[in-house]
Amino acid sequence: MLVLGIETTCDETAAAVVRRSDDGTGEILANVVLSQIEEHAAYGGVVPEIAARAHVEALDGVIARAMQEAGTRFADLDGIAAAAGPGLIGGVIVGLTTAKAIALVTERPLVAVNHLEAHALTARLTDATAFPYCLFLASGGHTQIVAVLDVGHYVRLGTTIDDAIGEAFDKTAKVLGLPYPGGPAVEAEAARGDPDRFTLPRPMIGRAEPDFSLSGLKTALRIEAEKVAPLADQDVADLCAGFQQAVVDVVVDRLRAGLRLFRERFGGPSALVVAGGVAANDALRRALSRIAVESGTVLVAPPPALCTDNGAMIAWAGAERLARGMTDTLAASPRARWSLEIAAAEKAR
Ligand code: KG4
Ligand code: ZN
Repeated sequence: MLVLGIETTCDETAAAVVRRSDDGTGEILANVVLSQIEEHAAYGGVVPEIAARAHVEALDGVIARAMQEAGTRFADLDGIAAAAGPGLIGGVIVGLTTAKAIALVTERPLVAVNHLEAHALTARLTDATAFPYCLFLASGGHTQIVAVLDVGHYVRLGTTIDDAIGEAFDKTAKVLGLPYPGGPAVEAEAARGDPDRFTLPRPMIGRAEPDFSLSGLKTALRIEAEKVAPLADQDVADLCAGFQQAVVDVVVDRLRAGLRLFRERFGGPSALVVAGGVAANDALRRALSRIAVESGTVLVAPPPALCTDNGAMIAWAGAERLARGMTDTLAASPRARWSLEIAAAEKAR
């Protein structure tokens, strides 16, 4: 089964061709990702209007390149998948409309994929992870602990009540004058900093429900930064190290609670899976690996290029759905907001 996948929900214009075999294994034939980071860098974050326009300009070329690299003709495809949300609505419209046009012309089925579901199912493409598993999704827009029970069957165990983890990294970077996106910059600074110099809070630690709250940590960091301003290089490094350590401590505690809840409700997970751009953080990966082992499971961390937004995850989720006969009509709507649990409930109807 050959599927074209299109991703345009944020600031990556991406297209990929993925093959799913009858035994359920997958193979990436092409995965083209065009990042718009430079277009947004001057603003310190993603500007929706700029993103939508950039997707319009780039998407046709990105799809053509993916098809060419895969050595595929449109007639060879079994389905066209696009992220239909959640995300910045202008970009989602560009990707979904393009997918509909290709589906219409090629007379192939359309699969309107939930972007979060695509992150959730990536581990099955990279590691053939069996259901059920516990997903920790940590990106610029999302922070969720999800029980992944089957394709289209997800239960959200915990989420953030304010900022997403990636957002907290990005805002911290901005406060400290580091470039956008903040995650990699903060991680690099933290490597040469002292995590114990500044006292920062660990919000939500010890609570039974595996939810997150990160805006207080960000505010505490800003107050500490203001106390020592003007900031010397070592101050920035120490603040980054303190911030990253606080995030790691929070994540460790929240995932322990999440895995406990998973076990109570669904039995032991086959793995703890991480996804989202923040999963590229090495300190976090090491901590997650420890908790997975401690709770009797293993950590599955797809390569960073497949943890951040990409077309292969959309194509793969499309293939998993297509294999189960779950397709969509050309009336499928783009959505700015679309929770995984609602996605599951709709498909069950
Ligand atoms: O999944 P992603 O590429 O895009 C979405 O938000 O959907 O995630 C981007 C986020 C950004 O907030 C970025 O700062 C963060 O992931 N990030 C990191 C690292 N690399 C990227 N956060 C912490 N450490 C990193 N090494
Ligand atoms: Zn994403």
